[in-house]
Amino acid sequence: AEISVMELSQASGLRQFLPRRPVDSHKGTFGHLFVLAGSVGKTGAAALCGEAALRMGAGLVTVGVPASLNPILEVKLTEAMTLPLTEVQGVQALGKRALEEIAADWPGKTALAVGPGLGRHPETVELVRQLVRRSTLPVVVDADGLNALAHDVDSIREAAAPVILTPHPGEMSRLLGATTKDIQADRLGAARELAERSQAIVVLKGAQTIVASPMGKVMINTTGNPALAQGGAGDVLTGMIGGLLAQKVDPFNAACLAIYLHGLTADVQAAWQGDCGLLASELLDQIPHVIKEFA
Ligand code: APR
Ligand code: MG
Repeated sequence: AEISVMELSQASGLRQFLPRRPVDSHKGTFGHLFVLAGSVGKTGAAALCGEAALRMGAGLVTVGVPASLNPILEVKLTEAMTLPLTEVQGVQALGKRALEEIAADWPGKTALAVGPGLGRHPETVELVRQLVRRSTLPVVVDADGLNALAHDVDSIREAAAPVILTPHPGEMSRLLGATTKDIQADRLGAARELAERSQAIVVLKGAQTIVASPMGKVMINTTGNPALAQGGAGDVLTGMIGGLLAQKVDPFNAACLAIYLHGLTADVQAAWQGDCGLLASELLDQIPHVIKEFA
């Protein structure tokens, strides 16, 4: 069948998907994102993801982290809340107990983001698989969340709620069991194959990020530049998508809008400081201004 690939650009009508901010709104109006992220050496991924969701307008964010790392996240995060989760004995990784604690904390949440810096402990892998399968809320899965699903792509279609997968080419290669070179040689084909197999929305990252829906709809992004080629940029994107999901934006539109604005934020920043040395945390600071100009 003929596939039409559309560009995500100024003219794509993305504006209409930005949540309105009614005068009588309150934090409850804008949802509550639960983020499961972070491990030893990667607390920054959790912090960036949670803050990006707030910058996208989410009303509340709770970041679930291994309990021993909670004091660090308490300092890093001022506005986002944290939920210290019980660790697998002796390894500072999350497992079954954490799943129960997340379930107990579930009431009131409106979306889920899983994976940035989460680590690859076998019990954490099982936790992610259970969480994605059983989530009653739309979920964006990134980084080690994706690695946890890598040998079980076909089971993603059993998820109870909409799923967005955001692999970079390396993560995509693990998901599809292909080489990164193969993925990059046919990015469109790879994104469409994963969307078909998983019945999830697939965001294949990198220059000209692709968004593919299980229905075969495909978009290619036109924003972004090499300023984003630095650790943390992807964690910010995951939080931006999660922030929109929390506000009940339709998942495909949330992915498209977040990807476009993420790249645009880097473009605005690069216009004055160039495309070298942009910290992901600086990206965060620019998001509200970019939304203001875009809206
Ligand atoms: N042009 C446009 N966009 C780019 C470019 C470029 N040249 N380079 C990178 N980007 C964008 C990608 O499209 C994506 O949105 O920056 C983001 C990079 O995301 P990741 O590759 O996930 O990198 P990041 O998350 O910052 O890396 C930290 O996360 O994926 C895990 O373990 C992995 O070490 C990695 C860690
Ligand atoms: Mg990443």
